[in-house]
Amino acid sequence: MAKLRVAVLFGGQSGEHEVSLVSAQAVMAALDPTRYELVPVGITKEGQWLTGSGAHATLIAAADPDRLPAGTEQSSTAGLHTEPFSLFDRVHPVDIVFPVLHGPMGEDGTVQGLIELAGLPYVGCGVAASAVGMDKALMKAAFAAAGLPLLSWLLVRRSELARDPEAVYRRIEASLRYPVFVKPANMGSSVGVNKANDRLGLQEALSEAARYDRRVVVEQGISAREIEISVLGNDEPQASIPGEIIPSREWYDYAAKYLDGTSQTLIPAPIDAALTTRVAELAVAAFRAIDGAGLARVDFLLDKISGELWLNEVNTMPGFTPISMYAKMWVASGLEYSALLNQLIALAAERGRRGIATP
Ligand SMILES: Nc1ncnc2c1ncn2[C@@H]1O[C@H](COP(=O)(O)OP(=O)(O)O)[C@@H](O)[C@H]1O
Ligand SMILES: [Mg+2]
Repeated sequence: MAKLRVAVLFGGQSGEHEVSLVSAQAVMAALDPTRYELVPVGITKEGQWLTGSGAHATLIAAADPDRLPAGTEQSSTAGLHTEPFSLFDRVHPVDIVFPVLHGPMGEDGTVQGLIELAGLPYVGCGVAASAVGMDKALMKAAFAAAGLPLLSWLLVRRSELARDPEAVYRRIEASLRYPVFVKPANMGSSVGVNKANDRLGLQEALSEAARYDRRVVVEQGISAREIEISVLGNDEPQASIPGEIIPSREWYDYAAKYLDGTSQTLIPAPIDAALTTRVAELAVAAFRAIDGAGLARVDFLLDKISGELWLNEVNTMPGFTPISMYAKMWVASGLEYSALLNQLIALAAERGRRGIATP
């Protein structure tokens, strides 16, 4: 049987470029070579597309060493040729695209739209689900419409912050209590996210978040346990066993996620059976609320004091190494990493056969 040609996309123009390089390295290493022919496609931070066996090494060499997760191997560049938008190259057609891209211009529907225009099936969520899953404000609107439990939040525009910052601070303080979490609407990996304990902290957090996005989400802060669960499937999504993150820092910031290497994970999460069931049900409901496909990791905040469970977010392309939560929760549920990749590719093919745009 002819091997399926799988284009793995990595890098990208977002603040999560380095994380993507590490996720994609793991995916490429684990794709079964008897079933798939690998076509690496790197996207530089400037948006240039590179193909060829040296594409990954080139991006690793160009990466910011301070943002590369601990233990990432540096390698030299070799055998590179540049072919922007090589997906459309009819001389080397690919059968399926696996975008292992995190953050804006990759996880947000932009690349997914490009792949649809190319007429190819691809792993993961479609254009709308990717866009809504990337945008914390739109995501919350979709969750609220589905009746899912959310912490109180407000949307702040960069323009109003520039025009009348005092009015913004007053509006926030009128409806939320400190601490609050301030987040760029379109980001991930905790980039640009800050906890504000007072007015001064709020000012700093808002101006930092507004550097990343025109829209900023300000959310009620709580003292929370972090519960996550993996979802896999198209129209009949399944949830894995849930896990818990114990961040190495006060909250789960970029350093705690990728740089310290000392955040702990507990799988299964030490929560009772009723809560486990509720997490799984809410995760599938959240996946459906954004019209997810393929995969997503759904994250919750469990109030340490009241015990209330809040939906935090859906990540349509979560960190994807074998030691990432997404994969580990499936392994704990009986699905090995390379079998997970096979299943994701099969789900993409199923959607492709059906015609992605057909209801
Ligand atoms: N409302 C909140 N209360 C307490 N902690 C929060 C809250 N919102 C975010 N956090 C902390 O910030 C981290 C990153 O926020 P999150 O919304 O998940 O953004 P990202 O998409 O960057 O992961 C969370 O994992 C959690 O540690
Ligand atoms: Mg998060």
